[in-house]
Amino acid sequence: MTTSLRETILQLFRSTPTGFVSGAQISRTLGVSRTAVWKQIEKLRELGYCIEAVPSKGYRLMQSPDVLLAEELSAGASGQLIGCRIRTLETTDSTNLQAMALGDAGAPEGLVVIADRQTAGKGRLGRSWISPGGVNLYLSVLLRPPVLPAAAPQLTFLSALAVCRTIEDVSDLQPQVKWPNDILLGGRKVAGLLNEMSSETDRVNHVVLGIGINLNVMRAELPTQVRYPATSIAIETGRPVSRLEFTTLLLRRLDELYAAYLVEGGRPLLTAWEAYCELTGQMIEVDCQQRRIHGQMAGIDDDGALLVKTSAGVERILAGDVRPARR
Ligand code: BTN
Repeated sequence: MTTSLRETILQLFRSTPTGFVSGAQISRTLGVSRTAVWKQIEKLRELGYCIEAVPSKGYRLMQSPDVLLAEELSAGASGQLIGCRIRTLETTDSTNLQAMALGDAGAPEGLVVIADRQTAGKGRLGRSWISPGGVNLYLSVLLRPPVLPAAAPQLTFLSALAVCRTIEDVSDLQPQVKWPNDILLGGRKVAGLLNEMSSETDRVNHVVLGIGINLNVMRAELPTQVRYPATSIAIETGRPVSRLEFTTLLLRRLDELYAAYLVEGGRPLLTAWEAYCELTGQMIEVDCQQRRIHGQMAGIDDDGALLVKTSAGVERILAGDVRPARR
């Protein structure tokens, strides 16, 4: 209820040509008392909205903060499924954990969970994802794709494409992908993807697409003990990225790619992903479980497994860490 009051007030501000909305007008539109209006204005100010009050004219929204508020995101969402329902959290353990639990509880497909900060952000292979507040994007999307469990890993490529296209939407940067779940800028990791699934032998209950993107974190704040050098979009462009704009565009990209995937299947996603992969044809090293494989990256197969041409033949790899080979 409170959320929709704030949403309506923000909509009133956006739609008034003069920018001024009187307390009486808000109170009439919302059907609540002037005191209730004042409380909501105060709440918006606490959230960082700069709202001036001018006697006999009313309230005017001077500046919106770069907070990820469900009502602001929903106002910008144009998709059919992904982004129609958004849950934003100031702090949570992990948006993936939250989205998986919501999936178990029967939440609808397309639900998006976003946190300003994570205290137990999860990376791939049991690693952690450092998630400071106020700067980056931590988001999980709940899906219920009508596919067999073996095909679900294809959705990692959907997330990767959505992230790459959104980076292109907001900058002149040229993102690259690194199998299986990294997005790079100039050879440094800017985003990581972690898909999790609840399934039975022949049926997917739900999949959560987890996406973590370094948007505004600065070089000095980047973790130093990382397996792969990291960066952020702001470091690469030299200017801050609006989290609100980036998230809105990302949700649109995810929605359009998922709509296409439901009709066309996963192959077009894999083909489009390969166009962002600079390591195809290059000599690479892959650390997988107890061994290191050296060879030429030959591409990915229809299930998204990595194909590496070695002296012993083509190896099909399902999980591992890829690096360009040392010369
Ligand atoms: C990786 O590169 O190892 C994957 C990192 C995935 C991080 C994102 S942040 C949002 C979502 N919630 C999590 O706990 N993890 C993913």
